[in-house]
Amino acid sequence: MSYKINDVVTWIGKIHWDFGQVLGKKLSTRIGTTYNSFLIRDEKNVLVDTVWKPLGKEFVSELKKEINLKDIDYIVITHGEVDHSGGLPDIMEEIPETPIYCTAAAISSLKGHFHKDWNFIQVKTGDELVIGERKLVFYESKMLHWPDSMFVYMTKDNILFSTDVFGQNYAVDESLLFDDCVDEEELYQRALKVYVNIFAPFSPIVKKKIQEILSLNLDIKTICPSHGVTWRKKPEYIIDKYAQWSDNYTEEQITIVYDTMRGGTGKMAQHIAEGIKQINPNMQIKLCFLGDMDNTDIITEIFKSKAILIGSPTMNNGIFPSIAGLLELIKGSKLRNKKYAAFGCYGWSGEAVKQITEELKRYKLEVVNEGIREMWDPSQDAIIRCIEFGRKFATEID
Ligand code: FEO
Repeated sequence: MSYKINDVVTWIGKIHWDFGQVLGKKLSTRIGTTYNSFLIRDEKNVLVDTVWKPLGKEFVSELKKEINLKDIDYIVITHGEVDHSGGLPDIMEEIPETPIYCTAAAISSLKGHFHKDWNFIQVKTGDELVIGERKLVFYESKMLHWPDSMFVYMTKDNILFSTDVFGQNYAVDESLLFDDCVDEEELYQRALKVYVNIFAPFSPIVKKKIQEILSLNLDIKTICPSHGVTWRKKPEYIIDKYAQWSDNYTEEQITIVYDTMRGGTGKMAQHIAEGIKQINPNMQIKLCFLGDMDNTDIITEIFKSKAILIGSPTMNNGIFPSIAGLLELIKGSKLRNKKYAAFGCYGWSGEAVKQITEELKRYKLEVVNEGIREMWDPSQDAIIRCIEFGRKFATEID
C-alpha cells in the first residue's frame, strides 16, 4: 500500500482501521490511525520512520514492492516509540549495516526497545544530510512528546517531517490521506484530540518550539506527520492551531463531568447546568457522563473549557473510582488555566466532594468554591440548591 506525496516522496505506511481500542476502552482513538513511513528517492534513497511493531513484517513486504531493500541508503527515525520504529527489526535483518539517523535519546530508546547495536548516527539540531539535490536538516524536538523526538526538514520540496506533532489518529483510505481530501471539521477534531492527549502536558515546550520553527522562516509547503493525513493544502493552519492550543487555550465552555451510581449525582449535574444557563445562556455546557464516555474525549472537552465541575458519589468513604482515575488524568494533563469545583451525592459519610476539592488544590489548580453535596436522591429543596450553586458558579468563573 503506497501513495505519492510528490515525485520523490512516497507514503509507505500502514492503515490500522481497528486501532480504536488498543490502549483500552477508556483511551480510544475511535476510528483507528495510520502509521506513516516515507520513502524519499533522490541520489540517495531514504526511509523516514517505519510502522507499529506487530505490523512490521507486513510493512517490509509492502516496502519491497516499492524498492529493493539493499537500495535504501539511509534510515531516519524521528521518534523511537514502537508505533514508528517497530518495523526496524524486520528491515535490519536484511540490511543490517544501513545507517540509522536519529537523536542521542532515540539511540537510547531504540536500544532499549530492540536490544540491538545497529549502525546509529547521532544527529542534533542543525545537522544536515545531503541526499542529492536535496538535503535533510534535523531539528531536535525534545519532549514533543518524548526526549528522542525530532523534526526533519527536506529542502527543495520544502517538506517538514514532523513526527507525532501535527498528527491525527485518523484512519482513512490511502487515496484520502491529505488534508484537502477529508472533512475539515473532523480533521480539526482529530488533530485537537491528539494535541490534548499527547502534547497538552508539554504545552510550554510546544509553544517555544513553534516560535523557534517560525523564527527559522522555513518555507514549509507540506507537513508529513507520522499519523494521519499529510498537510499539503494549508500547512500553516495546523501550525497556527498548535500555537493557539499551546497558549492557555479556552473556549466559552463549561464541562460538567460526573459519574453516578443511582442517578443522584447525575440529577445534580443537570440542575447545576440549569443554574449556569440562567446566568449565562450563551455558555456552551458539556454534560459528560463518565460511564458512557472515554477519558480521551472527556479530557478534550476539559481542555476546551474555561471551567470544570466534577461530580462524584461517595463510595467507601472516598471518591468514586472512575472519577479518581479522571483526576489523575487531569493532574497529568497539567491544564492549569481553568477553574474547578466539585459536587456529588452521598448516603451517610459523604467525603467525596471534600476529597476532590483537596485533590484539585493539591494539583495547584484554581478551585473557586468548596463544592456542593446532597444526601440520598436530591429532594426538591436540594434541586433548588443545585440550581443556585450553578448560578453562583457561573458568576465565580467570570
Ligand atoms: Fe506515534 Fe509517540 O508515537
